[in-house]
Amino acid sequence: MWAALLMLLAVVQGLLVMLTVSFESSRAQDEAEAVALEVAGETKRQVTRGIQDLQPLTWPAITPLEWDVRAEQLLQSRRELLRLERRGPGGAISSLAESRYGPPLFTRLRRSDVEPEIDTACSLARRAAAPAFTRSYYVPFEGGTGVEVMDLCVPLLSEGRMTGFLVATWSLPQLLESALGAAPAGRHELSLVESDGSRLARAGTRRGVGVYVAERIVDLPARSLVLRADSSAGRPSLIPNLAVALVLGLSVALTVLALLLARDFRRRAQAEAALAEALAFRKAMEDSLSTGLRARDLDGRITYVNPAFCAMVGFPAEALLGTAVPPYWPAERVQEYTQRQAARLAPRAADEPASSPTRAGREGFETLFVRRDGERIPVMIYEAPLVDGNGVQTGWMSAVLDVTDQRRVEELSRQQQERLQASARLATVGEMASLLSHELNQPLAAIASYASASLNMLEQPDAHTPGLLREAMQRVGEQAERAGRVIRSVHDFVRRRDQHQEPVGCGALLDAVLPLVRLQARKSGARIELDLPEAVPAVRCDRTMVEQVLLNLARNGIQAMETATPLAQRVLRLGVRQRHARWVEFSVTDAGGGIGPEVAERLFTPFFSTRAEGMGLGLSLCRTVVEQHGGALEFESPVHAEHAPGSCPGTRFRFTLPTA
Ligand SMILES: Nc1ncnc2c1ncn2[C@@H]1O[C@H](COP(=O)(O)OP(=O)(O)OP(=O)(O)O)[C@@H](O)[C@H]1O
Ligand SMILES: [Mg+2]
Repeated sequence: MWAALLMLLAVVQGLLVMLTVSFESSRAQDEAEAVALEVAGETKRQVTRGIQDLQPLTWPAITPLEWDVRAEQLLQSRRELLRLERRGPGGAISSLAESRYGPPLFTRLRRSDVEPEIDTACSLARRAAAPAFTRSYYVPFEGGTGVEVMDLCVPLLSEGRMTGFLVATWSLPQLLESALGAAPAGRHELSLVESDGSRLARAGTRRGVGVYVAERIVDLPARSLVLRADSSAGRPSLIPNLAVALVLGLSVALTVLALLLARDFRRRAQAEAALAEALAFRKAMEDSLSTGLRARDLDGRITYVNPAFCAMVGFPAEALLGTAVPPYWPAERVQEYTQRQAARLAPRAADEPASSPTRAGREGFETLFVRRDGERIPVMIYEAPLVDGNGVQTGWMSAVLDVTDQRRVEELSRQQQERLQASARLATVGEMASLLSHELNQPLAAIASYASASLNMLEQPDAHTPGLLREAMQRVGEQAERAGRVIRSVHDFVRRRDQHQEPVGCGALLDAVLPLVRLQARKSGARIELDLPEAVPAVRCDRTMVEQVLLNLARNGIQAMETATPLAQRVLRLGVRQRHARWVEFSVTDAGGGIGPEVAERLFTPFFSTRAEGMGLGLSLCRTVVEQHGGALEFESPVHAEHAPGSCPGTRFRFTLPTA
């Protein structure tokens, strides 16, 4: 389209220039034609008037003197006439008058030389009984100049007889000048030319250029001349010609303007397209956002809300735009919110750049909105200043997040956390309770047996009774104290506190548990053997817990021998050995029924027990305690690989403790 337009413009401009030039040309040509026509007519009229003026000289009755006077007058009034001759019928000159406004005519050229011409014209005139011109001829003067002349032969008639001729010599240049005097030639050079083109005379102030030439035939009696008007204007050149220059300038300006317009148009179109794209992008972004967007002017009136915001508060955009107290503010908080808004929208300090968000804006603040249906929703608001193209702040843009779900999840997770903690506490309490009941069994059982023994003694008192009773009471006291320690240590153990570890001699450990072990052994008829070398170093341990381990293992061993083992073989062996520079090994060996593979698998599992009254916590506690000291608890059953068939295989539990 643009190419077509430009082409059209070029064509129109070309045409314009062409038309202007051709108009110029035709105007110049027309002018030349007009001048030629005018001057040719005027020349013809001059000649006709001249011939009329000659009439008085042709009267038959005119005297020679009168003729001379009249001829003189005529030569004065008509400068184009140079010479007048009155001739007889044979051609002889009877009277002669010559103009005094020029040099004498026939000096270098003799009159007789042109006589044939005159004869021809005169015979023509005689035949036609009308004036006739000779051909033109050149009369040279002294000094190199000359003049082109024509002779007019007028027949003199008297009563129908030819009485002679009047011969008048016409100067062609003068004839042209006199014609020009009546018809202005303007910027043209005028000349009389012969039909063959040779120039006879010229007049006019300018020189013709030969471009715009017009010719007209001037009919003279018996002869015709051609008048040529030649304009001094040359072919119109493009630039110096004002009109063309104007047209050209205008068209160039027009072209430039069209180009500029086109470029501007294209840029505008591009900018518009980019703008439309950016707008569509922004619109899509706003519509797809789940974050509510709200813009306010500096007076706090809402100027914009996005669909997400409308959905959040449940009001249509029309109900929100322009409001300073929006309908989603809780009624009882309007005053508080208004004050808060006023503080936030207050003009900022001069040194603070308009575009920097406030601290509160960056970090956001939480507030409460009311939906249209009355539901209250907690929201987070993040604000940033809205700055126009000139860097002037025009308002505030806020991003609003509905944090209802977030709050709900937080509440839920808080509740769950609480429940979890409660159940964890419960589990701990349960664990502690079971451990306590397990560990307290022994001291309580011991106290119970001391108590029943004391009662027995009191029923049949003798001399030893007071001493024995005192001892029994002491033991009861010790066991009660021990129970207290157990409770403390189990409590500590459950709380996973740092255990109170100390260096303890191995003998001391065994001594502490032996009375209880013996008490139990006596009940089931088992013997206790000790294997304690002197050189065993002290170990570093929590004394009470390790005593519990020893007690548990001993109790398990005695219990294992209670059923199957014959009374004679019921021996429980407690041993201590140094196995390594840093480790001391304790062993508890019984002669019980041993541990089968299916029991061995689940031996240390808490609450696994094969006994009706067993809790199944003993071994799991032992292992935990030993491992907490850095040692290991293992067992072997049968004790001897080649035990006699029929006899009990027995079991040995071993554990290690670090040396002190
Ligand atoms: N020396 C042993 N000889 C044979 N079986 C044993 C021996 N020690 C433990 N067991 C088996 O391992 C099981 C688990 O022992 P554990 O000491 O953990 O629990 P328990 O003795 O049954 O009950 P309690 O909690 O009162 O000690 C026992 O029930 C028993 O079957
Ligand atoms: Mg046990």
